[in-house]
Amino acid sequence: MDSDASLSEVDPAVASLVARDAERQRSFVHLIASENFVSRAVMEAAGSVFTNKYSEGYPGRRYYEGCEIVDEVENLARDRAKQLFGAEYVNVQPHSGAQANMGVYFGLLEAGDKILGMSLDQGGHLTHGSHVNFSGILYNFVAYGVDPATETIDMDELRRVAHAERPKMIVAGYSAYSRLIDWRAFREIADEVGALLMVDAAHIIGLVAGGAHPNPVPYAHVVTATTHKAMRGARGGLIMANEEFGAALDKGVFPNAQGGPLNNHIAGKAVCFAEAATPEYRAYAAQIVSNADAMAQTVMDDGVRVVSGGTDNHLFLMDLRSIDEDLTGRDAARLLYSVGVTINFNTIPFDPRPPYRASGLRVGLPAATTCGMKEPDVAEVARLMTRALREREDQAALDTVREGIASLAAEFAPYPADFPGHV
Ligand SMILES: Cc1ncc(COP(=O)(O)O)c(C=O)c1O
Repeated sequence: MDSDASLSEVDPAVASLVARDAERQRSFVHLIASENFVSRAVMEAAGSVFTNKYSEGYPGRRYYEGCEIVDEVENLARDRAKQLFGAEYVNVQPHSGAQANMGVYFGLLEAGDKILGMSLDQGGHLTHGSHVNFSGILYNFVAYGVDPATETIDMDELRRVAHAERPKMIVAGYSAYSRLIDWRAFREIADEVGALLMVDAAHIIGLVAGGAHPNPVPYAHVVTATTHKAMRGARGGLIMANEEFGAALDKGVFPNAQGGPLNNHIAGKAVCFAEAATPEYRAYAAQIVSNADAMAQTVMDDGVRVVSGGTDNHLFLMDLRSIDEDLTGRDAARLLYSVGVTINFNTIPFDPRPPYRASGLRVGLPAATTCGMKEPDVAEVARLMTRALREREDQAALDTVREGIASLAAEFAPYPADFPGHV
């Protein structure tokens, strides 16, 4: 093997796919709430020789020799996360957000235990009890939701359900919820019924790191997160808790849920925690929230209903029925992709349509904000989007929108034009 040959020399097929996706990433405006563009530094760490090392176990207690350096990188990542979020215990080994949640359930619960989680169609995640996911298969999930009138979490109703059901765990933190969450109130309810509070901060952890959302760590028994959404790091999961849960959580991740950790991704997590501790990142987090608000206000001014009437975080949900009763989320997302916007369709609370068609679009600002967009830019994107949706039968209008989006994408590209997509 010529270990020094480049990707394009060894495998032109994969090299060309990388280059094509780099081009796709450069030429669209990206509004998928869970996506972002990592720095060159994160990409270098995630693409480093750490990918070669096996290290089952934890720093100082490995099942393999030669782990002294991966021990250092894992300790560095853990220490930086502890500092950033004020956590006593951190586990950076989960391969993803779903694996982090699995590690917590395996570590702190027994199969069959009762858990209170928000239903998927109201903003929860698959791992919060969906019947097609391990969580719903192995545990007895009882769903809570949002208030039909306000479309925000009804804490009185949650308290009522918690007292009636007496779960072992309450899960808070969502995939498609645009309002601040009252962690203290969640913890009070958990304490009243003797439940553990798990906060799944996968979506908002980047805002928390940058001081743009209240930190759940002081209130929850355990917090899970992803490092690749607003956090803007290498793909992966994260668990934080008080030290008393550390041994059980370590075991829940390895050996219960996973084998060897992805050390290259742990290195990429360490880098993103350092990046997130800077004043630039704080400004970034504040700008995400401000951009989301500006964009939501613009679509509302354009007559589109936004779930719960706005946003406090990085995302919001557009109710497409306010544009046209017959417009599904899936069709709207496809149409927007055809004019240069990547976005995902999403159910809205009490959606009459099934998830694969849905009545909403989830609009997220972390990626566009990384590209340097400010309020006037995202407002322009919003106007172009609503025009495309309203005038979707008019080819001339769609061409105008496509041109407008293309020029914004070119102005706010994530990487330079000659960037090959890898380092
Ligand atoms: C709230 C929440 N939890 C967990 C996850 C799972 O993360 P991953 O896709 O990394 O497994 C997601 C992903 O979208 C999420 O939104």
